[in-house]
Amino acid sequence: MDYRIILPEKDLPKQWYNVLPDLPEPLPPPLHPETLKPIQPHELAPIFPDALIEQEASPHRWIDIPEPVLDIYRLFRPTPLVRAHRLEAALGTKAKIYYKNESVSPAGSHKPNTAIPQAYFNKQEGVERIATETGAGQWGTALAFACQMYGIQCTVYMVRCSYEQKPYRGILIRAYGAEVFPSPSDRTRFGRQLLTSDPQCSGSLGVAISEAIEDAASREDTKYALGSVLNHVVLHQTIMGLETQKQLQMLGENADVLIGCVGGGSNFAGLVLPFVPDKLAGKPMRFLAVEPHACPTLTRGQYRYDYGDVARLTPLLKMHTLGHNFFPPPIHAGGLRYHGESPILSHLARLGIVEAKAYYQTEVFEAAKLFLNTEGFLPAPETSHAIKAAIDAAREAEPGEVIVFLYSGHGFLDLGAYDNYLRGELRDEEYTEEQLQTAMQSCPNVGF
Ligand SMILES: Cc1ncc(COP(=O)(O)O)c(C=O)c1O
Repeated sequence: MDYRIILPEKDLPKQWYNVLPDLPEPLPPPLHPETLKPIQPHELAPIFPDALIEQEASPHRWIDIPEPVLDIYRLFRPTPLVRAHRLEAALGTKAKIYYKNESVSPAGSHKPNTAIPQAYFNKQEGVERIATETGAGQWGTALAFACQMYGIQCTVYMVRCSYEQKPYRGILIRAYGAEVFPSPSDRTRFGRQLLTSDPQCSGSLGVAISEAIEDAASREDTKYALGSVLNHVVLHQTIMGLETQKQLQMLGENADVLIGCVGGGSNFAGLVLPFVPDKLAGKPMRFLAVEPHACPTLTRGQYRYDYGDVARLTPLLKMHTLGHNFFPPPIHAGGLRYHGESPILSHLARLGIVEAKAYYQTEVFEAAKLFLNTEGFLPAPETSHAIKAAIDAAREAEPGEVIVFLYSGHGFLDLGAYDNYLRGELRDEEYTEEQLQTAMQSCPNVGF
């Protein structure tokens, strides 16, 4: 009985897959935050290096992965695809459940897949320092690691409630040589403004992004990096889906259902995008994106242009959004607390190619505990959303159906969350329609 499907190192993909040329309808362009006209590549130059700006709208289906990036990838890639036999047995399902295990990376999640190339391309263009945001701390850890690999300084604005819930993430970020501040912070004009009106502000990814962009835009030596949402980020993450395809081929299996949790959409998109051409060609396959009821971007948000941050510094993206002023409650899946969504993923959801489902955190932690007690590994709270959906899919599946989910990260630095769950102290959060409508009022009306 095979458990772990290991791809030989020589089969590590040497190119990322870009879905843009294969989309059935073109992606609506990002708009300039002030003129509301399609943004020109050079207008992004103050915050991103040229190579990443080029990748953001590349017409090329395949993009070479530079050798120095492959070199760092080889520290942990290819990652295993694992058959969850013991979970299947506990469920009594005849479906086959596989998970692509990204928790084996140095930072403990899928985030290094894009942190490494982002740090590399910045270094190539002479950037000395990168500023970024982080929610649960996984992205901040990944970028701190990647910056250390290429000798760049790194500053992380970490959402305050996660900074307080997960102190060990901050320590790990500092151990990689980066600096980390709870956001809102007093280091930026925008952070100070928020703290003046609400000294207890628990922060959000939208706020931390504003602070990181303000930091980057105000210094010559600094650029900004985003851990999700943007096209170049999901491009880098396709390495996971490309490896999964090869691993399924080794088994002679076809995926029937592909599942991932969604914050900004990068782990889900990274798994699913390489399978999009097959689905468009008629292969029966379901793509299921999973989010918290407490931050229901795909299931209850609107598909329209919105800002990526609270201070309205980012370009406007056409995406599913809850409104850029939406402050999700401090649920433990900090990485899923984002008001917006990857435009590519939103577009695919709009076209009916991707389905979405939401869960409460208590049922998600129950699923995590079942996984832990059968498969032995402790998943991150974000990842546990995918596990819950995979369990539900397996319960409804036909015999022999192949379910693949993305195991986006481990939960070793989320033990406080497990403690709350085990003590029965978790609260389930959901929004009324009226609350959502109020948050949506912040969305600009761009007329299309
Ligand atoms: C372990 C883990 N999974 C998933 C996510 C969600 O991000 P994304 O939707 O970009 O994959 C995060 C974000 O921080 C994370 O830390």
